[in-house]
Amino acid sequence: MADKHQQVIFPVIGGSGEYSYSRHSAFQRNAVEAAKELINKAIAEKLDFNSFSSSKTFRVADLGCSEGPNTFVAVQNIVDAVELKYQSQGLSYEQLPEFQIFFSDVNSNNFNKLFASLPPERRYFANGVPGSFHGRLFPSASLHFVHSSYSVQILSRVPKEVEDKNSPAWNKGRIHYCNASDEVFKAYEAQYFKDMESFLNARAKEIVHGGLMALIVPYCPNGTPHSEVFVNRAIELLGSSFMDLAKKGTISEEKVDSFNLPLFNASFQHIEGVVKQNGCFTIEMVENIPQVKPQPEVFASTMRSGMEGMTKGHFGDEFNLDELFDLLSKKFEESLISTFEQEKALALFVLLKRVANN
Ligand SMILES: C[S@@+](CC[C@H](N)C(=O)[O-])C[C@H]1O[C@@H](n2cnc3c(N)ncnc32)[C@H](O)[C@@H]1O
Repeated sequence: MADKHQQVIFPVIGGSGEYSYSRHSAFQRNAVEAAKELINKAIAEKLDFNSFSSSKTFRVADLGCSEGPNTFVAVQNIVDAVELKYQSQGLSYEQLPEFQIFFSDVNSNNFNKLFASLPPERRYFANGVPGSFHGRLFPSASLHFVHSSYSVQILSRVPKEVEDKNSPAWNKGRIHYCNASDEVFKAYEAQYFKDMESFLNARAKEIVHGGLMALIVPYCPNGTPHSEVFVNRAIELLGSSFMDLAKKGTISEEKVDSFNLPLFNASFQHIEGVVKQNGCFTIEMVENIPQVKPQPEVFASTMRSGMEGMTKGHFGDEFNLDELFDLLSKKFEESLISTFEQEKALALFVLLKRVANN
């Protein structure tokens, strides 16, 4: 099937090299691990037994799985929780379903690396599914549980207005909406709504009635200006590092003006708004997950593993990323990490249930 949604421009660094995602994703892994109890509660209390007990196969998808290892932690938590639910219903080991796990990410994801590092002791059948989660990935009503961590904040594209010199939303001198004009923020927000609508429409077709979807995202807590959110401040410092290099003449300022990150760290109101608008899911659980305070250098590498591909794509292979990320690490040390505030550094766990409305 043609994949008209395959337009993602935000690949993480694959492989196991110095700045690979697999070596620099502890920040995300902490939240995925911390969500284990929430996943247990979600499956114990919110998953309709009738939605899957007649099926001999329990199907789980992890969307934006990358190439490991965090995805293995996430799916194991889900398998463990379903097994626990069976035990609590007094069902025997023989009555357990078989588990089919779909690891899904964009076509360019290094699925070979993921398959090579699958846990040898796994109690599930593993499948790789390439494609964008903004479109359909699975047959109708085929999934019982969908998981996605640190992925749906990634937009399918940079809103076109922010790259248009003639638009009031032109984002000169910045790489994101943090501290930018209202027009820039509104353009990002509109793109987020559009992308989430496509995401929810696709999942509404794929998840069985009574099935669940757990999303873990970096977010903007209620009442916190988006410019004070930890991850947004980090992106702002990356933007100012680019501008420092432009002022030094290492890169052109024009190139920085035309570079923007396709990321939107939504508030709960944004998520609630888009879920209500879609109408196919109810929000069953909402919990904050505190992010662990990272070391400046480690967090600069985490950002590098997520952004190197896109940065090289825009500024060229010859661009010296070491200089950029050394500068960023210093800025993190001087301001971001030394002023770390836990209540502004949270991930959000949201549990949605597919309701039988249409
Ligand atoms: C920051 S990583 C998160 C990986 C993992 N879920 C975790 O929690 O560590 C984001 C992943 O989302 C994937 N991604 C971004 N946009 C996507 C899209 N439209 N469809 C599918 N995957 C996408 C990226 O390729 C990347 O592997």
